[in-house]
Amino acid sequence: MAKSKSLFFCKNCGYQSSQWLGRCPSCGEWNSFVEEVVDRGDTDKGKSTVRRSSENFPRKLSEISLVQVPRISTRFREFDNVLGGGIVAGSIILLGGEPGIGKSTLLLQMALQIPDKTILYISGEESESQLKMRAERLFPGHQPDNFLILTETCTQQIFEHAKAIQPDLLIIDSIQTLQSQLLDSAAGSISQIRECAAEFQHYAKTTATPVFLIGHITKDGTLAGPKILEHIVDTVLQFEGDQHYGYRIVRCIKNRFGSTSELGIFEMQGTGLREVLNPSELLVSDRDEQFSGSAIAVVMEGTRAMTIEIQALVSSAVYGTPQRSATGYDIRRLNMLLAVLEKRCRFKLGAKDVFLNLAGGIHVDDPAVNLAIVASILSSATDLPIDSKTCFAGEMGLNGEIRPVARIEQRIAEADKLGFTRMFLSKYNLKGVKCDQLKIKLIPITKIEEIYKDLFE
Ligand code: TYD
Ligand code: MG
Repeated sequence: MAKSKSLFFCKNCGYQSSQWLGRCPSCGEWNSFVEEVVDRGDTDKGKSTVRRSSENFPRKLSEISLVQVPRISTRFREFDNVLGGGIVAGSIILLGGEPGIGKSTLLLQMALQIPDKTILYISGEESESQLKMRAERLFPGHQPDNFLILTETCTQQIFEHAKAIQPDLLIIDSIQTLQSQLLDSAAGSISQIRECAAEFQHYAKTTATPVFLIGHITKDGTLAGPKILEHIVDTVLQFEGDQHYGYRIVRCIKNRFGSTSELGIFEMQGTGLREVLNPSELLVSDRDEQFSGSAIAVVMEGTRAMTIEIQALVSSAVYGTPQRSATGYDIRRLNMLLAVLEKRCRFKLGAKDVFLNLAGGIHVDDPAVNLAIVASILSSATDLPIDSKTCFAGEMGLNGEIRPVARIEQRIAEADKLGFTRMFLSKYNLKGVKCDQLKIKLIPITKIEEIYKDLFE
């Protein structure tokens, strides 16, 4: 193979240098140089450009035939949904997440479930015997012949094996451990990650083999890695969840072959991941006794409505500055809701500690959760419980007005199906809602002041 050529570029201004420099002479930025391959040393490079120019020409949309892309099912309904119906041939999928969240488990479990497809699992992190132990834990005694493991970190070696085996699916665990011979920099550095990803993209496109890349990110997203890959790959999935809870969510951030609004919910168990097809039942605790400070919100996660329990604790502040803490919700938004409550409902929350907790360690961004949060805070502040068959869906504005939320019919249908008897929602959401066939009673409100009367008086 002809020798490849690489150069160093300043990330800040694009200054080019043949060697690594600590400080850019052009823009003065420190530590901004990354290595990049400029010539891969492919000898047939010239030939391919000549061929392409004669075959490739602009076409009308009508001249392009519609091909249904074949998809491989992951045998997980939740995972297939997130991918937009399964794995597309030749696509490159990045699965990012914090270490220990279960990325390897998810893909190994998926690989062991898919029959009749040759799957090559490249592990740069775990040894063969570790993987065997994990496989044994997931599916005791199940040793399919179509599943192959290779512990290797050099991409050129990997492609050699892949060429010989011709797998139907390639899994890379993880991109941070790989190293391309074309670059001298260490595995896990930005230039290596980018180069390896580019090589796998080329492999995926030329052989029509789908490739999964696992990538680590830390809590603050600082580690060099998946962020810079997002534009190279076709699909970006984020695996998230709280390590102390069993729930795991696969969220789609980018998808060239489907919608990004889908998400899959899993539960980590002793024998691997289990799909959660009906999340509402898990996120609302079943209890006879009623406590104050608890309210149920109907939120949308992706295209699916589900109920989630919100718990608030309001108590007198022991120290001068009151404490505010929120699990699963943005603390700044909580502070905003408290400020509105203070102003509109004349609740003296300024001298109170407020703690908020969303069940199951799930993070909710849907603004429709606001109304339930406010209700749970009011309930805890007054120590009056809210009936457990009551739920909420509404957004609160800065003036205390309750705003309508999207997909209200789907939310109402979900609450009705789960046996709730009352649902509080914005008055403006009632327009056009057919409620004659519903058992649930819809209670429209316009201002936050009204909710107190309806709930506790
Ligand atoms: P892992 O897939 O190794 O995480 P990642 O590849 O994202 O770093 O999963 C690690 C965690 O999952 C580990 O803490 C143990 C737990 N686990 C289970 O609870 N049950 C299981 O069956 C398996 C295989 C793992
Ligand atoms: Mg792993």
